[in-house]
Amino acid sequence: MRREDLKEAWAVVQGAFAHYLETVPGRVPGPLFGGARYLPHRWEMEPEGCFVAEASGRIVGANIAVAWGSCGLFGPMAVHPEFQGKGIAQKLLEPTMDFFRSREVRLRGLVTFPHSTAHIHLYQKFGYRPKNLVAVTSKNLSGEMPPLDPEYLLSRQRQSTEDQWRNEFRSLTGSLCEGLDVTKEIEATHALRVGETIFMGGSRVAGLAVCHLPPGSEAPLGNLYVKFLTVSIREDGPRVLGQLLEACERLAWSRGLRRVIVPVYTGYWAAYQTVLARGYTIERLLLRMKSSDEGEDPRLFLLDDWR
Ligand SMILES: CC(C)(COP(=O)(O)OP(=O)(O)OC[C@H]1O[C@@H](n2cnc3c(N)ncnc32)[C@H](O)[C@@H]1OP(=O)(O)O)[C@@H](O)C(=O)NCCC(=O)NCCS
Repeated sequence: MRREDLKEAWAVVQGAFAHYLETVPGRVPGPLFGGARYLPHRWEMEPEGCFVAEASGRIVGANIAVAWGSCGLFGPMAVHPEFQGKGIAQKLLEPTMDFFRSREVRLRGLVTFPHSTAHIHLYQKFGYRPKNLVAVTSKNLSGEMPPLDPEYLLSRQRQSTEDQWRNEFRSLTGSLCEGLDVTKEIEATHALRVGETIFMGGSRVAGLAVCHLPPGSEAPLGNLYVKFLTVSIREDGPRVLGQLLEACERLAWSRGLRRVIVPVYTGYWAAYQTVLARGYTIERLLLRMKSSDEGEDPRLFLLDDWR
């Protein structure tokens, strides 16, 4: 995918998802993706992982992949409704798998629609196995909230200490899942000004949260979206997760946003229970599919949305 393809590819993604979601029983109609955008910053972050399929000179399919260190993810993938059922998704997945191999990815993952036999069949062909559900939860904010102390924001740190923080974040995520590294996600979020990173702890990071803020990010309009959040295994998980969620809520409030979206893997049972106990309710369920059983420890405090 080239930069100049972004617009056309996004139109294909929107068209394909709109067409598909119309067929989902019981779905409440509403604006597609709620104004969230998935392509530009992902392309800037990992252009080698973005692919398009063309027919007669027009884009008819797209897939976006990223390697978070040893963990390779893809999505959104979409094929124009007129071209579906012709093997185009499978053609798009071939270079995607090559990309993961070239990045020496060990664990491949995705999320999909839990009720869709077609999606599950398609991904199983590429070695993905169904695992637990991901609960996309949200909470409406009400009442007054004090602002978040800027000392918790990465953007307020001195330039000279940024590398040090990056190394800290890398060792935190790597201690949870070998080789997991989301620093490029953090860099893209800040370079493109689509969000903020909150972190806690003294000389060693106790926990961090990468938040997307609208517009132009993966956050739907009016919402703060927690893209990635984790707590160090050395820490009291429920306590630090509670502090991070409170920090996210304060950040949202100070930016005029009145809702926070927190996706959490139900396989991480303790983290999932902590999120629910803080007043978040399930908005939607997605199925996580993975190439292996790695990273399935239910004690992990890791909120990693793979959309
Ligand atoms: C999902 C999507 C990308 C698939 O694209 P596609 O080009 O139609 O997919 P392909 O033709 O390569 O493969 C589809 C496979 O599913 C199978 N399939 C289709 N309907 C099925 C069903 N009801 N049950 C089981 N398998 C089904 C097809 O037979 C084919 O498998 P086969 O080659 O083994 O026969 C496309 O349908 C799409 O864009 N959907 C809307 C957006 C979306 O859902 N994106 C993915 C979100 S995770």
